[in-house]
Amino acid sequence: MSADYTVQGDVAVIALNNPPVNGLGLSTRLGIMAGLEKAIADDAIKSIVVTGAGKAFSGGADIKEFGSPKAIQDPNLLSLILALENSPKPAVAAVHTVAMGGGLELALGCHYRVVAPGCSVALPEVKIGLIPGAGGTQRLPRVIGVEPALNMIVSGEPIKSEMLAMLPGQKLFDKLTASADSLMEEAIAFARSVADVRPLPRVRDLPCKHPMGDAYFQFARNMVKGMSKNFPAPAKCVDAVQAATKKKFDDGMVYERELFLGLMVTPECRALRHLFVAQRAASKIPDVPDNTPVRAIKSVAVIGAGTMGGGISMNFLNAGIPVKILEMKQDALDRGIATIKKNYEAQVKKGKLKEDKYNERMALLSTTLSYDDIKDADMVIEAVFEEMGVKETVFKKLDEVMKPGAILASNTSTLDVNKIASFTKRPQDVIGTHFFSPANVMKLLEVVRGEKTAKDVLATVMAIGKKIKKTCVVSGVCDGFIGNRMIEQYSRQAGFLLEEGCTPQQVDKAVERFGFAMGPFRMGDLAGNDIGWAIRKRRYQEKPHMKYSKTADLLCELGRYGQKTGAGWYDYQAGKRDAIPSKLVEDMIAKHRQDLGITPRKVSDEEIVQRLVFSLVNEAAHILEEGIASKASDIDMVYLTGYGFPMHRGGPMLYADQVGLFNVAQTMSRFAKNPLDDGAFWQPAPLLARLAAEGKSFNNVN
Ligand code: NAI
Repeated sequence: MSADYTVQGDVAVIALNNPPVNGLGLSTRLGIMAGLEKAIADDAIKSIVVTGAGKAFSGGADIKEFGSPKAIQDPNLLSLILALENSPKPAVAAVHTVAMGGGLELALGCHYRVVAPGCSVALPEVKIGLIPGAGGTQRLPRVIGVEPALNMIVSGEPIKSEMLAMLPGQKLFDKLTASADSLMEEAIAFARSVADVRPLPRVRDLPCKHPMGDAYFQFARNMVKGMSKNFPAPAKCVDAVQAATKKKFDDGMVYERELFLGLMVTPECRALRHLFVAQRAASKIPDVPDNTPVRAIKSVAVIGAGTMGGGISMNFLNAGIPVKILEMKQDALDRGIATIKKNYEAQVKKGKLKEDKYNERMALLSTTLSYDDIKDADMVIEAVFEEMGVKETVFKKLDEVMKPGAILASNTSTLDVNKIASFTKRPQDVIGTHFFSPANVMKLLEVVRGEKTAKDVLATVMAIGKKIKKTCVVSGVCDGFIGNRMIEQYSRQAGFLLEEGCTPQQVDKAVERFGFAMGPFRMGDLAGNDIGWAIRKRRYQEKPHMKYSKTADLLCELGRYGQKTGAGWYDYQAGKRDAIPSKLVEDMIAKHRQDLGITPRKVSDEEIVQRLVFSLVNEAAHILEEGIASKASDIDMVYLTGYGFPMHRGGPMLYADQVGLFNVAQTMSRFAKNPLDDGAFWQPAPLLARLAAEGKSFNNVN
């Protein structure tokens, strides 16, 4: 059982002991209950202190138990809290470091709460698509007031204990201790001081009202609706807190439970829970243990001050790591530095960055034209032109000058990292760091593991990626790595859809209704259609058997590269970004169909979404089977953080699981029969076919 029981004179101390955050899984609950029963049965004990051993009071429910029989096995969280509340001897929570979700709810079940300063207090359930389900929505408003409680519950954000202790009239904390170190001593003294108080105060007995009544909740509901498109939980938080003001406590608890269970089975909740688990899983690499030693990265060099080099540098400067940028010519350096300054200054202007922080960051930045100046850097990231010849020159030079043990990273988006490594005599130190543009903004970092990349190099880059606040996902070496290899199939489908009868705006709208921030054609106009054109030209040489729609090439031949040329798939008015459907493009597509002898057909929005999303899924299944990605959830992380896949769908793999792989495979087989599509591509990938036949899901490959 994961709770310790000790006695200090007439006070029993129950300490949750389930590292790292004292999650309230079954064995912790059993431990607390056993301690409580023991304390109640012992006549020498007058009061009880409940606390958390180690680095938390409690981080809350054990998310891995959700949906499993263990979650409801007695004592469940509700019955445990009730037992504390009904204890005939005073129960005092000694709260420190972290009190979140079920942890805070547990403390609210105690008669008193003593808290250390610096403790993060939150009900974060909304972040995984739920509402607090063990009385949080009913008890928190009673102790800190309706509005502060609703704000905490709807946002899920932590607030420091000393801030909460300052709220006027608050009854959440009976005592804020002088320091974290004195918590136990002060909590035990407090427990002694209330040993004879009867009746014992219970949060459930406190009144709960808002002076504006229902009008306030209507206002809150409107606010929440605007902010939480696609997610049902925030509105349910409002309903639950409103119930606290209208219903008797026990009825409010029943209502909270109903809402909680209703949300638990929604696809949105499943998606957010998946994301929560996937985020943590992404940093785990099957054959690289957590305790792999990492190399110290105290300074970084960046080669190339272009679009990517500048953004990459900013990430390290923001984390307080000095950066030296190397270029071939001074004017390229000047341009790069000016862009970095412009980006920071825009943040200062918006009030997002303080002037002194900006100065601190710029002071960490230096430039050079000489490799001699970067030889002592712990890590170097190359972001020069995407040409193997240029990469070869740079890596040969790096091999010559860099100190032993330095990590040599390439930001290449398409080139073979193994080949780049082969230009050096230290391929074990070479790795790919594929940042996304704009590199100072985008969360995703694909960490590309070469055949010879050393495990400690991989572990170091994952750690430094976390330090610069990126979501790191490991990819093996292949053309396009995980993300771009999949997006190529998606773009191909978008092209076929135009030939078969769609307009760009129809495709975009269907995909945007599904939840993508932008459809493929608006996206193309934003990124520049010439980029895809260049890639296709290469593909026509490399993969002559691969079928492509030529529509996008015709568009580029007209010079319509997108927003930067004032016209692309859509028309644009000067200085504006609104995409206006283009008659010229429509005619161009119609003429192209005619030339190919295609009679256009009406394509449903459902087919559009399926063709685009399932194309991602099928390619992803190949990627998984080839071991380029080690888990299906890593692929979801790539798409959620790098490609704007709708968060409430949980990524392409979870989406496919929710549709059912059998259905997905059937639909693909149907698409394979379409003569205008690429039949060979639509053969379900062997892994997908196997899982579908066995009635399994991608989740089984996590
Ligand atoms: P860019 O053309 O904006 O910048 C490249 C810079 O490298 C230029 O300033 C150039 O002067 C400098 N350079 C070229 N050869 C050099 C050498 N031998 N020594 C020192 N500096 C040299 O290119 P961008 O877009 O920043 O791309 C850089 C790398 O990042 C490429 O490998 C590209 O594939 C990759 N990438 C680009 C993304 C994008 O969206 N632009 C996204 C992800 C990766």
